[in-house]
Amino acid sequence: MTDDTRRNRAPYDDVLGTIGWTPLIRLNRVTRGIRTPVYAKAEFFNPGGSIKDRIGGPIIEQAEREGRLKPGGTIVEGTSGNTGVGLAIAAALKGYKCIFTMPDKMSQEKVRLLKAFGAEVIVTPTAVPPDHPDNYVMMAKRIAHDTPNAILANQFYNAANPQAHYETTGPEIWEQTQGRVTHFVYAAGTGGTISGVGRYLKEKNPKIQIVAGDPVGSILAEMWRTKGESKPEGTPYKIEGIGQDKVPGTLDMRLIDDFMTVSDKESFAMARRLTREEGLFVGGSSGLIVHVALHIARRLDDPGALVVAPLPDTGERYLSKLYNDEWMRENQLLDADRTTLDRVLQTKRGDGNGEAPTIVSVTPGTTVRQALRLMSLHDISQLPVMDGANCVGSVSDWSLSARSLDDTKLLDATVGQVMDAPFPVVDVSQPVDAVAKLLSKSNPAVLVRTNGSVHGIVTRSDMLNFLMAR
Ligand SMILES: Cc1ncc(COP(=O)(O)O)c(C=O)c1O
Repeated sequence: MTDDTRRNRAPYDDVLGTIGWTPLIRLNRVTRGIRTPVYAKAEFFNPGGSIKDRIGGPIIEQAEREGRLKPGGTIVEGTSGNTGVGLAIAAALKGYKCIFTMPDKMSQEKVRLLKAFGAEVIVTPTAVPPDHPDNYVMMAKRIAHDTPNAILANQFYNAANPQAHYETTGPEIWEQTQGRVTHFVYAAGTGGTISGVGRYLKEKNPKIQIVAGDPVGSILAEMWRTKGESKPEGTPYKIEGIGQDKVPGTLDMRLIDDFMTVSDKESFAMARRLTREEGLFVGGSSGLIVHVALHIARRLDDPGALVVAPLPDTGERYLSKLYNDEWMRENQLLDADRTTLDRVLQTKRGDGNGEAPTIVSVTPGTTVRQALRLMSLHDISQLPVMDGANCVGSVSDWSLSARSLDDTKLLDATVGQVMDAPFPVVDVSQPVDAVAKLLSKSNPAVLVRTNGSVHGIVTRSDMLNFLMAR
């Protein structure tokens, strides 16, 4: 650890002093094959776990300076959760009460988190137009108006929001990169971050490119492309905290040089990769932002450029959502499993290294009696009938015993006379899910081909054991 990267060498007066100066961390794995360096600014290092800690204090202090907020007052805000935490931390230290309205698409973790800080939380419907009285921003306005000694934090129109990023996030990135930053990538919720950082960096070096990502369903990218001439309708999406169905007053579109639209699925996949491959446990908006950053870095293909992408919040806020496979599957956000059949064979062997177990089989000339003995000896329920390297049929314990009990002469018949259809032969590289479907039909087993010849067998019970252990 160098002097420059040593943190917290002196005590702080209170937790507010720990906000900001979040680390800039190079991405090394998700960037494989990309020559342009990409650095993530890990905003989940803030005490409230998000970039929004930076604006809570400044918004409250501005209202105090202007005499709008008096001791014992109440702070009201419509929030996707993170601004609420930022405000709640500052409010806790300064003795203010908080009331937050929040759309119902936001995670339960966020509601509980705000309540933990002592805030009152009112959950509102997500699927209402921006000017509907039940919209979370409209409701916050009404509550602020009707509550004595209350202010609306008003992050979507409050200049203290972008100003906080102009004064902290922007200068930190400039200093941490020693002025070498060439591209800043972010996504707009209120637009406070991208506008504040964008203004600061462009003042330092007008050549720095400001690139925004936008979720599919938000109208911001389209409004930027058409310079506000089209009036697109927003559609629902799952990423929290970014994108809008209305352009906020705190978003300065003129600072943005490029806009890219990204799906929920791509964003969540990247967030999960950041966690698993880089050890950065982040939320869905971080996934979207890094997805765009990698696209830009790949397109630039320039080791002399330097892309900076903030990671707005922690993954802990989304354990019930993007880190929950069931929720991801319910929302068609998880790709089909790509685990292949060789994993099943390895599991069957009990290790990752040994040879495939030999296939117990019979030839067409074997008698039914011998076939039944063989199955009993090996404790198996079915056998492939092999003619050299080819599977020409199959027999099962169940069918042979039922038919032999009916007519004992059958015990001396040959397997070739009574056999059923051969087992399907599938390649070892086939996905497990596809093979499981084959087994769910009328096939009790499949033969597994490796490098052109049959080397293994996977039965229904092998597959079930594998799926249950997974
Ligand atoms: C998770 C998350 N990402 C990104 C943002 C966007 O930041 P800004 O409002 O500064 O545009 C927010 C804002 O609430 C957020 O909560």
